[in-house]
Amino acid sequence: MEERKVTAVFRLEKKIAFVTGAGSGIGESIARLFAQQGAHVVLADVREDAARRVAGEIQETGGSARVQSLDVAEESQVKAAIEQVAALEGRLDILVNNAGISHVGSLLETSLEDWERLMRVNACGVFLCAREGVRQMLAQSPHGGTIINMASVAAMIGIERRLPYCASKGAVLALTRSIAIDFATQGIRCNAICPGTVQTPFVEGYLARNFAGHEDEVRQQLHARQPIGRMGQSDEIAYAALYLASDEAAFVTGSAIVIDGGWTAK
Ligand SMILES: NC(=O)c1ccc[n+]([C@@H]2O[C@H](COP(=O)([O-])OP(=O)(O)OC[C@H]3O[C@@H](n4cnc5c(N)ncnc54)[C@H](O)[C@@H]3O)[C@@H](O)[C@H]2O)c1
Repeated sequence: MEERKVTAVFRLEKKIAFVTGAGSGIGESIARLFAQQGAHVVLADVREDAARRVAGEIQETGGSARVQSLDVAEESQVKAAIEQVAALEGRLDILVNNAGISHVGSLLETSLEDWERLMRVNACGVFLCAREGVRQMLAQSPHGGTIINMASVAAMIGIERRLPYCASKGAVLALTRSIAIDFATQGIRCNAICPGTVQTPFVEGYLARNFAGHEDEVRQQLHARQPIGRMGQSDEIAYAALYLASDEAAFVTGSAIVIDGGWTAK
């Protein structure tokens, strides 16, 4: 076999990345890291103001970024957003399906409305963005592209009172594998990341909504459920996304990278 020279790794020079939910938490960290590593990043979020703040800070530090107002659950908006990428950036190299929402509830504490809301954003949002993203990636053949879906350990294990969230993330994992298989020979890779608990506004919002008055006590429980003894940080997830997005991961498709401080190893 030909000897391979190892050079500097994980640069995204001149790559066009589209990150959903980039206005906060994990998506924000991914957008910042990708821009730092040389990518032009389109920050898509239903909260345009939040995406604008992050994009502004990326630009101030010399990075390249643009904001896209987007509700991932709306087909027409997703189509328009990817068409906009084709028109403005000319190509889509990296699609990160990160936008997601949560709901606390067991089977008996979940209304049909809750179920549909979670499936609509977390699963249908990934389906719509991936479909339009793949269409664009096929159109730019032979370049292809890579897709990273933010699943969760909730796709792999049952978590108390998280029924629709677990179901929606299970769907994300299944979507990931199907996309990987269907387009493996056409230059498109698709992988998932399964984080454990990560300290983001997502978690803080959940504490405020569900455990007002005893947030500290529950925050300690959230730290403790990872055998490492703490929640993850969003940049610890972003580094895995950077690897998956990079050319160094050319042989990686259909995988789920678990980053959970040991939670699912128990
Ligand atoms: N934080 C955790 O513990 C954790 C663990 C595992 C997986 N995840 C997953 O990681 C992803 C990011 O989570 P986070 O903790 O950074 O959350 P976050 O709430 O901090 O950020 C989510 C972002 O997504 C955006 N968003 C929500 N609905 C949207 C929609 N319909 N269209 C476009 N944008 C939308 C929000 O405006 C927000 O900016 C989610 O998919 C979540 O399920 C989070």
